[in-house]
Amino acid sequence: MAYRVALIGAGIISGHHLEAIGQVGPERLTAVAVADTDEAKGRAAAEKYGLAFYTRYRDMVREQRPDIVIIALPHDLHEECASFCAEHGCHLLLEKPMALNIAQCDAILAAASQTGVKLMVGHTQHYLPANLWAKALIRSRQLGKLVAIHDTRHLPYYSDNRPRWFFEKAKAGGGIMMNLGAHSIDKIQWLTDSRIRKVKASLSYEGGIGDVEGSGVVFAETASGLGAVIVQSGYEGVAKDETELIFTGGMAKLNSARGLWISRNGRYEPVTGGEWGDCADPFCLQLQDLLQAIERDAEPDSSGAYARSVIAALEAVYRSHETGVEQIVRSS
Ligand SMILES: NC(=O)c1ccc[n+]([C@@H]2O[C@H](COP(=O)([O-])OP(=O)(O)OC[C@H]3O[C@@H](n4cnc5c(N)ncnc54)[C@H](O)[C@@H]3O)[C@@H](O)[C@H]2O)c1
Repeated sequence: MAYRVALIGAGIISGHHLEAIGQVGPERLTAVAVADTDEAKGRAAAEKYGLAFYTRYRDMVREQRPDIVIIALPHDLHEECASFCAEHGCHLLLEKPMALNIAQCDAILAAASQTGVKLMVGHTQHYLPANLWAKALIRSRQLGKLVAIHDTRHLPYYSDNRPRWFFEKAKAGGGIMMNLGAHSIDKIQWLTDSRIRKVKASLSYEGGIGDVEGSGVVFAETASGLGAVIVQSGYEGVAKDETELIFTGGMAKLNSARGLWISRNGRYEPVTGGEWGDCADPFCLQLQDLLQAIERDAEPDSSGAYARSVIAALEAVYRSHETGVEQIVRSS
């Protein structure tokens, strides 16, 4: 049976989702409709993919009654939209970060559990081949015990093509840490199979646009006792996306989009191989995971409960910056 999918938010990331639906194939998924308050964007996506178009997502959900909705909206709208769709019986693929705070995450989780729909949050890091190799390397203990992680991300965050809401704390929940730091926190937790339990953070607010942080340094410790340092900068400079994994018997360098290199003796060598079939794209693998969760009545890899832990860690990051002291991540 093909599940009918509707998309809410036809912005920058929406094309990845619509292409991924096509890759999964019409016997499993059919995109039926798209909603966006920006008529030009919504109609363009509707025409390109042959979908019904709505300006109001509530009308779309009531009329189309999709099996699955993909929510790709500004962060302040995640909670109201996800709760509405869950209440109307739709399984959810909700873009990351799950919501602005853990209270909103709890509201989404309650709505999903009331109707029994599956809730997946789009932590695409779980589906990138290089990350999967890194996770397998850690589990194999091929380089010994993992003892530290150093995660660095630099990119010009204040670019003209970034939608303006990303610079408003009320809409985005924060700046580079909320948006890209969410990926770093997720990556550290998912790679180590352990949740971050305490953080000390220092942020800067020098972007000159909006009221969100433009850089952050975080020392995080997982429940398993592993130390990780996250350094993120959105100011001008040289773009970098690198996660160093430090083991007792060597090191690994991970660029999630490009590959994994390992070293035992002062030289890095690339890791290659792996079978990804027709669906190598992370957005496609993510949809397959959601389908499996629906069909097996199981939790997806990036469940709502898991994604809530990323928001809990982010809340602790902002609290630590504001108070100047280490913060324990709140679990309830
Ligand atoms: N997984 C990833 O790697 C990844 C990458 C980029 C973005 N994202 C996430 O995807 C989400 C969307 O980001 P984006 O970059 O596409 O943003 P965007 O601003 O380009 O898209 C958001 C869209 O929502 C529409 N919209 C706003 N209010 C609406 C409403 N009430 N009803 C219907 N439509 C409405 C806007 O008109 C816009 O087209 C965010 O959560 C973001 O963090 C995830």
